[in-house]
Amino acid sequence: MGLRKIIRKGDISLKKKSRTVTEFNARLHILLNDMLETLKDADGVGLAAPQVGVLRRAVIVADISGEEPKYIELVNPEIVAEEGEQIGPEGCLSLPNIWGVVTRPEKVTVKAQDRYGEPFTLEAEELLARACCHEIDHLNGVLFDELADRFLSEEEIREMTEGEAE
Ligand code: CO
Repeated sequence: MGLRKIIRKGDISLKKKSRTVTEFNARLHILLNDMLETLKDADGVGLAAPQVGVLRRAVIVADISGEEPKYIELVNPEIVAEEGEQIGPEGCLSLPNIWGVVTRPEKVTVKAQDRYGEPFTLEAEELLARACCHEIDHLNGVLFDELADRFLSEEEIREMTEGEAE
C-alpha cells in the first residue's frame, strides 16, 4: 500500500481516454488499494485512476450519505440510466481551490465490475450520483471545469466550507 501523487490539471494524462481493465490481477488490486489510501488522505469523495497517472478504467467513489463514508470501487463503470437533474457545486482533487456549478443527473444507474471482475449495478443519487458522473468523465479525459456553468467566487467558497465545518 502506498500513497500516490495526484496529478493536477495541465498534465496530459488527464485529457486522455483510459483503457478498459481486462486483467483483475494483483496489479489492479494494488492500484485500487493505493487509490483508496490516496483518496482518504486527500479527504475526497472520488478518485479516478488517471488522476494518479494510470490510464485504466477504474474509479473509487465515496458514499457519504451515512455516518461513515462507504467507499465503492468501480472497474469499467458505465452509466446505463439517468434521471432528473441536480445543479450544485463541484470540485476536483486535480483542480485544487476551484469550484464550479455543474448540472448533473439526480439519479444514475451504473454498471461496473468489482476488483475480481464480478459485474454489479449501483443505484446512486444526489452527491453519489454526482461523484459517479464526475469520476467516469475522468476516464474519458473530461474535467468538470469544461462543464461548469460558472465558477464560485472566493467568498462563495468560504461560505460553503464554513457551512461544512458547522
Ligand atoms: Co475529479
